Amino acid sequence: MASRVICFNILVLVTVAYGAAARGGSGQRYWRSGWDPLIRSPVDIAAEEEEEITNGTRWAVLVAGSNGYGNYRHQADVCHAYQVLKKGGLKDENIVVFMYDDIATSDLNPKPGVIINSPKGEDVYAGVPKDYTGKDVTVENLFAVLLGNKSLVKGGSGKVVDSKPDDRIFFFYSDHGGPGVLGMPNTPHLVANDLVEVLKKKHAMGTYKEMVIYLEACESGSIFEGILPEDLNIYATTASGAQENSYGTYCPGTEPAPPPEYITCLGDLYSVAWMEDSETHNLKKETLEQQFNKVKKRTSNSNTYNTGSHVMEYGTKDIKPEKVYLYLGFDPETVNLPANQIHFDKMDGVNQRDADLIFLWQRYKQSSESKRAEVLKEITETLTHRGHLDSIIDMIGVLLFGPQNGRSIIHSARRRGLPLVDDWECFKSTARLFEKHCGLLTQYGMKHMRAFANICNSLVEKTTVEEVFIATCGGKNIGLPYGTVGAYSV
Ligand SMILES: *[C@@H]1O[C@H](CO)[C@@H](O)[C@H](O)[C@H]1NC(C)=O
Ligand SMILES: *[C@@H]1O[C@H](CO)[C@@H](O)[C@H](O)[C@H]1NC(C)=O
Repeated sequence: MASRVICFNILVLVTVAYGAAARGGSGQRYWRSGWDPLIRSPVDIAAEEEEEITNGTRWAVLVAGSNGYGNYRHQADVCHAYQVLKKGGLKDENIVVFMYDDIATSDLNPKPGVIINSPKGEDVYAGVPKDYTGKDVTVENLFAVLLGNKSLVKGGSGKVVDSKPDDRIFFFYSDHGGPGVLGMPNTPHLVANDLVEVLKKKHAMGTYKEMVIYLEACESGSIFEGILPEDLNIYATTASGAQENSYGTYCPGTEPAPPPEYITCLGDLYSVAWMEDSETHNLKKETLEQQFNKVKKRTSNSNTYNTGSHVMEYGTKDIKPEKVYLYLGFDPETVNLPANQIHFDKMDGVNQRDADLIFLWQRYKQSSESKRAEVLKEITETLTHRGHLDSIIDMIGVLLFGPQNGRSIIHSARRRGLPLVDDWECFKSTARLFEKHCGLLTQYGMKHMRAFANICNSLVEKTTVEEVFIATCGGKNIGLPYGTVGAYSV
């Protein structure tokens, strides 16, 4: 008891000193119910020292939803997440990894066989289980894995989350996204409501105790906004709100920069924030709430939102006081690290959609004279495609909703708390109808999914919608960029 009191006093001193520094900064309020989390009561400290006795197993599902060297960062995030969990003591049999696996061996990779997730970072690729790679990285397989249903899996290792009622599950996803969708290297993409339905099914099966979801993508808040129930024992945080980009980091031309031989971003801002936080704290002491607050601050670029986004939280917030190690495990080497120190260096971000172009430009600069024309063509095609797509969507807005307000209606966002769309089947079928007449939506095109949601929310007749799509796109080619293949997006 005596040692606890002393410990408590030291904490107070440290906290007062720290608090003075912190107040000079952002002025953000950290306290809750009277106790600053940094000044913990003796009762809290006693609780911290008591590890939760649990019969449960920790499971993890890690998904990189993209491919291509320009998207290096998503697979790098996922490989790094695996290393964090591995050091935390999770077993390979309980970690299911989805990654296209085309980065380590890419011709553009300056260090063949190695993937890094920060400028001075170690290799994070070694040892990563290759459960679902290449054509097996699909929504269908992801859902089968989450549900623990082996017979629904096609290809891959067949590993699924065969969890029991006492188990905890951590689910991390990193990729491009758009309103209501998350990318997959093999179409169709993942649609928000389908994911939430799978989570409800998993909950009804009674095969987990609690689940934590960390999600990085543009507009990632739209995946849960207004649709993730609060009673599934699932706590989810997302890199961005429902209507904003998420950000890549460690990108060429930003600080901190990757080593000069890398022409692509090494990580994503939110993903790197939670992983670097996990590696520098004692996760037996740090709570999910503390981690959320720090990741939120770092991803916002210290509340400036200057090349940063709003980290959001959804679902069962009662889970937040739990210690992070219940999900990510505990690395014995972190035993003397603090629970909740707030220190990180400023990191530049690049919005995920610009990151594609930065990569192409770096490739152009790095290419030999003879190759430059080819890369330049790719850049031009990409920009042409984006311009065409943007103007087509604007025109559809004008034709459907009139010249005065058409553009604003087609791009309008609903207020917080409401789902992106009321009728998710309409959302999907409208997107397919668009693709039938106007060409496939690409990685960039996902950003326009909100238009289809708004069309559905306005209850426009399907025949009218189709006429407008035909009138706008009939006979036109929206200029699919280099290398685009695939089926309908959703
Ligand atoms: C662990 O499992 C045993 C046997 O099933 C059970 O009696 C006990 O209550 C469980 N403990 C916890 C903390 O769930
Ligand atoms: C797996 O899915 C199939 C098809 O939906 C279903 O018939 C089967 O019962 C499921 N198996 C398990 C173990 O849930």
